[in-house]
Amino acid sequence: MNQSIWAKEEQKVMYPSNTANRNIEIAVIGGGLTGILTAYLLQQQGRQVEVFEAETVGSGMTQNTTAKITSQHRLIYDRLISQFGLEKAREYASRNEAAVSKYEELVNTQNIDCDFKRESAYVYTTKEPVNIKNEVMAAKKCGINAYYTTSTALPFEVTGAVCFQNQASFHPIKFLSALADNLTINEKSRVLRMKKHQLEIVNKAADGQEKTYQVTAKYIIIATHYPVINHPGYYFTRMHQERSYLIAVKRKDALPYGMYIGECDQDYSFRKYGSYVLIGGMGHRTGSGGDKDHYGELIKAAEKYYPGAKVEYKWSNQDCIAIDEVPYIGRFSKKYPDVFVATGFNKWGMSSSMVSAMMICEAITEGKLQEDSIFSTSRFMYQASKKNIKSNVRVTLKRLSLQTFLMPKGKLSELKPGEGKIIRCGLKKAGVYKDQDGKIYAVSTRCPHLGCMLEWNKEEKSWDCPCHGSRFDYKGKLLSNPSVKDLKPKDNKSNLE
Ligand code: FES
Repeated sequence: MNQSIWAKEEQKVMYPSNTANRNIEIAVIGGGLTGILTAYLLQQQGRQVEVFEAETVGSGMTQNTTAKITSQHRLIYDRLISQFGLEKAREYASRNEAAVSKYEELVNTQNIDCDFKRESAYVYTTKEPVNIKNEVMAAKKCGINAYYTTSTALPFEVTGAVCFQNQASFHPIKFLSALADNLTINEKSRVLRMKKHQLEIVNKAADGQEKTYQVTAKYIIIATHYPVINHPGYYFTRMHQERSYLIAVKRKDALPYGMYIGECDQDYSFRKYGSYVLIGGMGHRTGSGGDKDHYGELIKAAEKYYPGAKVEYKWSNQDCIAIDEVPYIGRFSKKYPDVFVATGFNKWGMSSSMVSAMMICEAITEGKLQEDSIFSTSRFMYQASKKNIKSNVRVTLKRLSLQTFLMPKGKLSELKPGEGKIIRCGLKKAGVYKDQDGKIYAVSTRCPHLGCMLEWNKEEKSWDCPCHGSRFDYKGKLLSNPSVKDLKPKDNKSNLE
């Protein structure tokens, strides 16, 4: 089934929304790991906090992670030292190492049953291990307990690997649920707008009725994976999103120790959970790579490395990639010093969530926020950013012009059951999907976020935006932000050509 090994079978509302207009001290937008951890740490300091979650707690990216808690973010420290300097690279390392320990502290002091386990993390290569050896030296300079090895528990030979000892893994939803039970949470409460310190929030009740309410907060924390507030901040100019895929195969005796990821993008990630081996990879920019069979490739890898093992789960995830590939944690913008943001975690959401929660908690309760931190939201590192700036600008200009000028050639009569296509609809165009019974669903191709043209994702039957990564199902329902709106349906299907 297409469901993560961590996901609850049913996403039930556990924390109904209070829809009264009110003033509160701290509003956290987003009930994923970042939002819940931040709210929890602030509440522990005696602050009055409420969480506003558009769907249900943990129903976003938190349930789709590999759930590795580590300061090892593939090969990063050599690059950080050369592009940001040793001092900032050390800050990155120490913040992430502290995050791993903080998880352990919470699990132990709060007695959380979440399969938390200390274990080593490895980046491996099957090529010449030059980069691996450089990373070992760089990580050591940053104060990390790293070493070089050729010995791993992987089902194939490696030419080299860098090992970080004493990292961790857990069950993210068990952990999240234990913390959430102590908090004031409003589920099905989507923040539509922020005006100074006032939030406009829409609550969707079980019967579909919507009610809009206003909450004014002294402090606001935007922890929505990708910020849903565009102005000020303009994070959409400095991030894109990528998708990746995971499968869980049952193989009790495999992978006796360690969590692994390959040096290159095309390499796989491996970790063990109970009797399962989780295999991940096949990453690509959201809205591209639609011609590949991502799950099929992972299943082939599983058959090769663990013959006969049964694939029991498969799921996908989405990550925000900052232009210089370091998270943004701190003030949302200079204009609103009491509004904070945490985003751009690249592929390392577990440790980055805790780093964010600890930094934002320090900023609010102790007034400590280093403006020259490596995570500073106002930084601009050209050398570290130029590759992503170029591709982000190219993709955005292309998709905006396609939405304006493209006249599609696809015809409704050519659409097969299970297929989606962009089709001419009078003088405009429509994103059209035909289900297995022949029923037609037509939606606007214009992304409600900033107007880019969407792309059909045949594997997941969704309309995906290459610009900043919003996603919608074939009926137009919002799946992933930064959009906060569904796609407009094309009610008049008689115009479809
Ligand atoms: Fe920004 Fe689509 S997500 S335009």
